[in-house]
Amino acid sequence: MVGVVGPVTMAMSLWEVVSLPPVGLLLLLCLPLCLCQQPLVNFESPFPPLLECTRKVHPIVPYKALSPWMSGFSRPGVKDFSQLTLDLTRNQLIVGARNHLFRLSLSNASLLQAVEWGPDEDTKRSCQSKGKTEDECQNYIRVLLITGRRIFTCGTNAFTPVCTTRQIGNISRVMDTVNGVARCPYDPRHNSTAMVTEKGELYAATVIDFSGRDPVIYRSLGNMPPLRTAQYNSKWLNDPHFISVYEVGLFTYFFLRENAVEHDCGRTVFSRVARVCKNDVGGRFLLEDTWTTFMKARLNCSRSGEIPFYYNELQSTFYLPEQDLIYGIFTTNVNSISASAVCAFNLSAITQAFNGPFRYQENPRTSWLSTPNPIPNFQVGNDRGPGENQTERSLQDAQRLFLMSDVVQPVSTDPLLYQDNIRFSKLVVDIVQGRDTLYHVMYIGTGE
Ligand SMILES: *[C@@H]1O[C@H](CO)[C@@H](O)[C@H](O)[C@H]1NC(C)=O
Ligand SMILES: *[C@@H]1O[C@H](CO)[C@@H](O)[C@H](O)[C@H]1NC(C)=O
Ligand SMILES: *[C@@H]1O[C@H](CO)[C@@H](O)[C@H](O)[C@H]1NC(C)=O
Ligand SMILES: *[C@@H]1O[C@H](CO)[C@@H](O)[C@H](O)[C@H]1NC(C)=O
Ligand SMILES: *[C@@H]1O[C@H](CO)[C@@H](O)[C@H](O)[C@H]1NC(C)=O
Ligand SMILES: *[C@@H]1O[C@H](CO)[C@@H](O)[C@H](O)[C@H]1NC(C)=O
Repeated sequence: MVGVVGPVTMAMSLWEVVSLPPVGLLLLLCLPLCLCQQPLVNFESPFPPLLECTRKVHPIVPYKALSPWMSGFSRPGVKDFSQLTLDLTRNQLIVGARNHLFRLSLSNASLLQAVEWGPDEDTKRSCQSKGKTEDECQNYIRVLLITGRRIFTCGTNAFTPVCTTRQIGNISRVMDTVNGVARCPYDPRHNSTAMVTEKGELYAATVIDFSGRDPVIYRSLGNMPPLRTAQYNSKWLNDPHFISVYEVGLFTYFFLRENAVEHDCGRTVFSRVARVCKNDVGGRFLLEDTWTTFMKARLNCSRSGEIPFYYNELQSTFYLPEQDLIYGIFTTNVNSISASAVCAFNLSAITQAFNGPFRYQENPRTSWLSTPNPIPNFQVGNDRGPGENQTERSLQDAQRLFLMSDVVQPVSTDPLLYQDNIRFSKLVVDIVQGRDTLYHVMYIGTGE
C-alpha cells in the first residue's frame, strides 16, 4: 500500500490497525509489521488466534516507520493543506490549501497542476479593517467536492466566502463563481461540512455570518428550493461543531456535536445525528424557507457500568455503506482527562430512534418530556415530490418536535476500542476478506 501524505495528515503520529468481524474485535493487522491483539470481545472463534496475536496492547506505529510506503508533497510558503479529494478515474488527488489548489498524482504525490486562489487586495484590506489579522484574511479552502466532471470548491476568502466550479482535469479553468455564504464558513477556524447529492444539490453545515453566531444546515443549488434550519434557535442547533454529512436513500444525515439543550444541570456537549428529507420543500407561512423534516438524536458512546463513562464528543466519522454502519471517534471534553473511544452505529438503530417518540419542552421552566411521534416513519410526500399537502407532518409539529427521545445505541454495549490519555482524531475503516470472514480494519490517527 502506498500512502500519499500531505503535511496535514503527516501530523498524525500514530496509526492503529484493528480488525473487527461483524460481532466484535478479533485480531489486529498492521501494514508491514503484523502486530496482533487478543479479542476484546470473547466469542466462539471459528479458528484459534495465532500465537503472535496474543498481545494485549494496541499497536502504535509512528508515521516515520511507515516512511518507505509514503510520499510527501509540500510547497514553500503554503500551509493548511486541509481538503483532500480523490479523483479515482484519473488516479489523482485534488488538494485544497491556503490560497492554493493542487492536483497530484495519487501514486507518488508528484505535482501535476498548481493554482493560486487568494483573496484580492480590496477584500484583504476590508477584512483587516474589520479587525482580523493578516493570517486570517487569506483564502482557506473549506469545501472541495467532485461532482461528475467538475470540482466544486469554496474558500473563506478573507472572511468573504466564495465558491467556484472548476474543470476536473484543469483546475485553473473556472466555469462558475458563486457566493460562499451558508456554504463555507467566514472564519477558517470554524468546522463545517458539505456534500453534493447525485441530483446536484449542495448540503452544507456551517455558520452563516461574520461573527459565527448563526449556525445553519443549508441546502442550495440544484433544483430544490433553498432551505435552512431555524435561525437563532438554540433548540435546533446550539453552538454546533459539524463533523460530516452523508446522503442515504431519501435522507441526508449530518453528524455533529453541540451543547445539550435538554441537559438541565450545567453545560454538557452531546454528539448527534441529524436528518432531513431530500424532498423537503419547506413550509408555507410557518417554517417558510425552513426545513419541515429536521430531526436529531443523541449518539451514545460509553463504557457500561453502574455509572457509565461517557465519551460525549464526536470528532470524526467514517461511513461503510455496504454494511450500513457509521463509525465514530468520540472523546472526552478537552478540559477533562484525555480519553478516546470508537463506537459504530447501525443505520437501522438511527432510523429506529427517528421513528420513536420526541422529547419536548413546553416552556423554559418545565422539564423535557417524551411525546409520541404523531406520524412515525413520516416522509415528505413520496419519491415524486411532496403531495398536495405541504408535508405529511403538520408544520406546527415540525416547528416544535425535532429532538428525539430515544438515544441511538451503538452496535456493541461497550466501545469497539477505547484508550485513556490519548485523543484520537480521524479514522478510516477498510473491509478485508479473512480466511472465513470479513474483517473491519480500523486505521486511527491522533492529533499528538
Ligand atoms: C509519479 O507517477 C507518475 C504517474 O504514475 C509518473 O508519470 C511520474 O514519472 C512519477 N514521478 C516520480 C518523481 O516518480
Ligand atoms: C486550463 O485552463 C486555462 C484557463 O481556462 C487555460 O488557459 C489552459 O490552456 C488550460 N490548460 C489545458 C492543458 O487545457
Ligand atoms: C474544530 O474542531 C476541532 C477538532 O474537534 C477543534 O479542536 C476546534 O476547536 C474546532 N473549531 C472551533 C472554532 O471550535
Ligand atoms: C449508553 O450506553 C450505556 C452502556 O450500554 C448505558 O449504560 C447507558 O444507559 C446508555 N445511555 C443512554 C443515555 O442511553
Ligand atoms: C444492522 O441492522 C440490520 C437490521 O436490523 C441487521 O441485519 C445487521 O446485522 C446489523 N448490522 C450490524 C453490524 O450489527
Ligand atoms: C393531507 O393531510 C390530511 C391531514 O393530515 C390527511 O388526512 C390527508 O390524507 C393528506 N392527503 C394526502 C394526499 O396526503
